Amino acid sequence: MTEQVSPASRLRGVVSVPGDKSISHRYAMLTSIAEGDSRIDNYSTGADCQSTLGCMRSLGVDHTFSEEEGRQVLTVHGRGIHSLAAPSATLDAGNSGSTIRMLSGILAAQPFDTRISGDESLVTRPMRRIITPLSEMGAHIDAANSQYPPLSIHGSSLRAIHYKLPVASAQVKSCVLLAGLYADGETVVEEPVATRDHTEIALRELGADISLSPRMARVRGGAALKGKTLYVPGDISSAAFFLIAALITPNSDLIITGVGLNPTRTALLDVLRSMGAQIKLLHIEEANGEIIGNLQVKSSRMKGGVIEGATTAAVIDEIPILSILGAVSENGLTVRDAGELRVKETDRIESIAHNLRAMKIQVATSEDGFTIPGRQQFHAAEIKSFGDHRIAMAFSIAALAADGPCLIHDAAAASVSFPEFYTTLHNLTN
Ligand code: S3P
Repeated sequence: MTEQVSPASRLRGVVSVPGDKSISHRYAMLTSIAEGDSRIDNYSTGADCQSTLGCMRSLGVDHTFSEEEGRQVLTVHGRGIHSLAAPSATLDAGNSGSTIRMLSGILAAQPFDTRISGDESLVTRPMRRIITPLSEMGAHIDAANSQYPPLSIHGSSLRAIHYKLPVASAQVKSCVLLAGLYADGETVVEEPVATRDHTEIALRELGADISLSPRMARVRGGAALKGKTLYVPGDISSAAFFLIAALITPNSDLIITGVGLNPTRTALLDVLRSMGAQIKLLHIEEANGEIIGNLQVKSSRMKGGVIEGATTAAVIDEIPILSILGAVSENGLTVRDAGELRVKETDRIESIAHNLRAMKIQVATSEDGFTIPGRQQFHAAEIKSFGDHRIAMAFSIAALAADGPCLIHDAAAASVSFPEFYTTLHNLTN
C-alpha cells in the first residue's frame, strides 16, 4: 500500500492513540497464565499485539473481543500458571520482538517443547540476550546460528538466578522475570539503567510475589496470578508522531488524550521540553499502577540538541521521529550510544539516513548514531518504509513539512503498532 501525504499548514483538534503496545503484550501474556477471566480495556489494535494473542491461543488460552464506546475490550480466559498446552505448530510472533523475547521466558518453563519464529525481519533479530539468562536458569534453547529465530525451546524446571543485565533491555528483564514466576526460589534482575517497568507493575497488580527497588526486581516462583479488570493507557510512542508533527507545523494546537505517562516512558517529553517544546499536561489519573494523562502541544521553536547515554536508551523507539524534528530544528540533532537502533525492526540508522537523503536532508551516520544539521528543508520524495512501522510514520510526518506531496511506499507497515495512523493524520490535516 502506498500513501500520499501532502504538506500541512497546521494541526488542530483532539486525537487519541491506540493502547500501549508494551503494556498490551504484558497483559495478554500474564492474564493467560492467571486464574480466571480478565477484561483488558483499550487493548492495542496493532498487529504485534495480535501476534501475542495468536501465540497464547496456540498455547490453549482463548480470548474474545467486544467493542465498548469505540474501544476494543479483550477478555482473556486465563487457565492458571501451569495450564498452558503444547502447541501443534510453530508459534508465529510475526514482526514482534517483544512477543518472542518475553514469551520465551514462559515457554522455557513449560513441560513441553515449543518452536517460535516470525517474519523476515524477526528472523534477523538477536536472541542471545535471552538465551544466555534462560540457559543459566536451566532451559535448553536451539537457535539459528546460536542466536536467531526460529527458537526451539525445550521446556524444563527452572532454577532462580541473580541476573545483571549487560545491556539496558526491558524485554530481556521481562523475559527473566516471567521465567522467574516458575523458578525454584527468588529470581533477581538488576539493570544498568532503569528501563520500562510495565512487567513489574503488572505482576504486582495480578498478585505475583514481587518486590521492587531502584533498578532491581525480585520475583519468587510458584505464586498464583489472579485475573482482573485492566485498562491499557494510550501509547506514548505512538503519540510521539503527533506531538512532533504539531511542534514543527506552524499554527498547531493539538490535544492528545489518554496517553500513558509511566515515568520510565516519558523521557521523550523531557527531551522535547529541553529543546523548547510547549507541552502541557491537562489531566492525570491512574489505572492499575500506570499513569494516564491528556497532553496539549503547540507549535514551538525547537532548538535541537544532543541525545546520548541513558537518555538514548529511554527514547530509543522515538529516535526515528526525533530525527525529523532534528532536521528542522535550529541547531540540528546528534544521537549517540544508539547501536541498538541497528537491530530493531530494520537497521534504523540506515532506514532513517536513506529516507532523509531521499528528501535532500544532510545526515552523517556512525556505527551508533547520527548527526543531522538544523534548519533544513524537506523536499518531496518517494519514501521507503522498509516494512518498519516507525519509519513509515516518522517520514509521513516529514512529508507534512515537505515542499510537495510525498509517496510513502509500504505504508501499511504502520499497522504493526498503529493501524489508525493514516486516518488520524488525514483527519487532523484536512
Ligand atoms: C520494549 C522494549 C524496548 C523497545 C521495544 C519494546 C518492551 O526494547 O525498544 O519497542 O516492550 O519491553 P529493548 O528491550 O530491546 O530495549
